[in-house]
Amino acid sequence: MRYGHFDDANREYVIETPETPLPWINYLGSESYFGLISNTAGGYSFYKDARLRRLTRYRYNNTPLDMGGRYIYLRDNTASDSARAWSPSWMPARTPLDSYECRHGMGYTIIHSKRNGIESQTRYFVPMGENLEIWELTLTNQRDTAADLSIFSAIEFNLWDAMDDSTNFQRNYSIGQVEVVDDVIYHKTEYRERRDHFAYFACSEKLAGFDTQRESFLGSYRGWEDPKVVETGQSANSIAHGWQPIGSHHVRVQLQAGEQKKIIFILGYHENPKDAKFDPPESQVINKRTVLPILSKYLKAAEVDKAFEGLRSHWTNLLNKFQVHTPDEHTDRMVNIWNAYQTMITFNMSRSASYFESGIGRGMGFRDSNQDLLGFVHLIPERARERILDLAATQLETGGAYHQYQPLTKRGNNDVGSGFNDDPLWLVLAVAAYVKETGDFGILNEPVPYDNKPGTEEPLYGHLARSIQYTLDRLGPNGLPLIGRADWNDCLNLNCFSDSPGQSFQTTTNKDGKVAESVFIAGLFVLAAKEMAELTKHVESRKSKVNLTFDLRPSTYYLDAASTMESTIWKAGWDGEWFRRAYDDFGHVLGSKENEEGRIFIEPQGICVMAGLGVDDGRAEKALDSVNVHLATPHGVVLQQPAFSKYYLHLGEISSYPPGYKENAGIFCHTNPWIMIAEAKVGRGDKAHDYYLRINPSAREGLGDLHRCEPYVYAQMIAGKDAATHGEAKNSWLTGTAAWNYVAITQWILGIRPTYDGLQVSPVVPGTWSQFEASREFRGVRYSIKVERSGAGNQVHIEVDGNVIEGNVIPLPAENVKDISVRVTIK
Ligand code: BGC
Ligand code: NOJ
Repeated sequence: MRYGHFDDANREYVIETPETPLPWINYLGSESYFGLISNTAGGYSFYKDARLRRLTRYRYNNTPLDMGGRYIYLRDNTASDSARAWSPSWMPARTPLDSYECRHGMGYTIIHSKRNGIESQTRYFVPMGENLEIWELTLTNQRDTAADLSIFSAIEFNLWDAMDDSTNFQRNYSIGQVEVVDDVIYHKTEYRERRDHFAYFACSEKLAGFDTQRESFLGSYRGWEDPKVVETGQSANSIAHGWQPIGSHHVRVQLQAGEQKKIIFILGYHENPKDAKFDPPESQVINKRTVLPILSKYLKAAEVDKAFEGLRSHWTNLLNKFQVHTPDEHTDRMVNIWNAYQTMITFNMSRSASYFESGIGRGMGFRDSNQDLLGFVHLIPERARERILDLAATQLETGGAYHQYQPLTKRGNNDVGSGFNDDPLWLVLAVAAYVKETGDFGILNEPVPYDNKPGTEEPLYGHLARSIQYTLDRLGPNGLPLIGRADWNDCLNLNCFSDSPGQSFQTTTNKDGKVAESVFIAGLFVLAAKEMAELTKHVESRKSKVNLTFDLRPSTYYLDAASTMESTIWKAGWDGEWFRRAYDDFGHVLGSKENEEGRIFIEPQGICVMAGLGVDDGRAEKALDSVNVHLATPHGVVLQQPAFSKYYLHLGEISSYPPGYKENAGIFCHTNPWIMIAEAKVGRGDKAHDYYLRINPSAREGLGDLHRCEPYVYAQMIAGKDAATHGEAKNSWLTGTAAWNYVAITQWILGIRPTYDGLQVSPVVPGTWSQFEASREFRGVRYSIKVERSGAGNQVHIEVDGNVIEGNVIPLPAENVKDISVRVTIK
């Protein structure tokens, strides 16, 4: 069953019914001001940090699931029936509509509906460069008589710190403050003391009334579905003193037959200089002089149109950095539109705020953000650069990392602590990807502190060296890396041994951690050390050009470290038919034929082959064949088999999940692209693309009732074969799946990948593809690539602007060259 369709020409997904299996959401904003918006206008907004600067309130796990958002009520003032009011987004009133459509696009959402001859369209978006969101409502009277309508807007303010807001009622019920001046509603809780920011909610029309106290608007014992004010048609003009400040405007309009009217609402965040907070200065009244020009600008329809066009063309430019045309529509749609878009969202949010992540539990993950960057870096390299420096500044002097940092403060966050021993290695991959994309070796010289402590600055390159060293300093009895709290798999907690309910599996440590080892980290280390060697080689050869302020170990140091680790993996990490997963605190193997449960895991098969292990001697293929036999399902590749049927004290959270869910043998989508890349590495394009399609959201669109999550973005998880709901997705949007799938399809299957020396083209595509085309911007040059197949293999023959080149890396052109045409023949 489908609940909508793709409109690729407009880069939109069109939802045709408000009753999707789950709320199907989108994101507004991509710089500092962000919002989540569902297909029925649910969701909330925040500035930079979903925990510390939340503008509007949202209650997770609510009934109905999605209640609270950017709501509008329309009231037909002349109708006499009890259902004279409705929500043009269906929720929250749920009055039946005559038609409904929601278009989620790149950074905007448009909800369109009709009821009793009144057509409404609401366009929600955040203008580029602004800290505000616009809701532009267009009403059309399609009746042949005049209509007398009341329009009510409604949002619920959050008292800024979303965690405190949802727990500390003894204080919070007394602190709420607002101002209503010249029809603009200002939310200023805590502005009187240490905050220098406030929220505003304004409307383009003269108001018939307003409300700022929730109870006055809704009425006691009522919910958002039938506010008293909407029922009676009379705002209470309430001013909130404590309790629950809200914002609601009341606009009354007479629409002649056929007449159309636009009403603009803007909700925004504004900061004042600390010494100019009040006007007059000795008062407690918000100084509005700094915000009024912004308000008056965006309350004009022409400015709104201009800002919307600005957003559209911003995305056209971004997405044009890489466009493909292949024989497969799901590939094209995801690469050209949705997968690229999702990489921006994951880059911005990490794992903090979605409909499954509350925005208060988790800041920016260290490993997550480094991986998110891999799919995003070509879109806006400058932002990737800034992110790398922010991440590195949270690194510890040991080379280890805080597991998370808070986006507002950019400080490492001890809630989840550190000691996830894979964390630092991801930084090496992120920096390598950035430098390959941009050629900006200068970033390696950027002074970056440790743990944000002034005086500890060292060039970024030194951080990478410490990342590598961190693993080498922490090897276990078999010579494999010690796992620490966990590796990529947060739930494989081999030092935790928790038997008390409610203890965090990630921060509880009952063992000193000197025994349990990870084959996954070993594989990741080989990959990272090889990247480090290659990067170092380029740094060595550029020594005269770059002003190096650090001592360089020769690249061979890293190559040797990688090769020593490879031997260790073959000795202790190879099980005969696949790579093992780990050694536990007793020194027992996990992910081996010897195990009853958890005999084979996906992660080491992916990462070890990506690192090149066994690629030349058939063992990589063997490992991948084992994946196919033991782990692959039609809905994707599960994390391990057999699933853990009970809780194992020595394994931790992984065995806490019921079989088939999450890390206990769910299809943890993040890992699937590693298998795609591995298949491409061994030259099996059919297999690689087959796995790609199994989890491709567009290819799963027809499975709507089973999959349930949005068909335009990846979800973190699809229930595995041991689950009762095999094939059901959860935790959509914020997942490393977005970046890694983008890398897998564009760089390894389509085979177009940046290198230090130029763009490499080495496709490993399905045998049935006779051709494809791609257009890629790389270091300011447009590469128009045409690939044709003339044989069944993956050998490439390349002509660049008519000249045959050696190998598959297109050398960087002379500075004045801006367009390059590439013809590739695969044999
Ligand atoms: C796990 C959570 C865990 C989190 C840590 C998830 O994948 O399933 O239980 O707390 O990762 O980052
Ligand atoms: C989600 C976390 O954000 C990510 O860092 C981790 O790798 C996966 N869970 C797997 O446990």
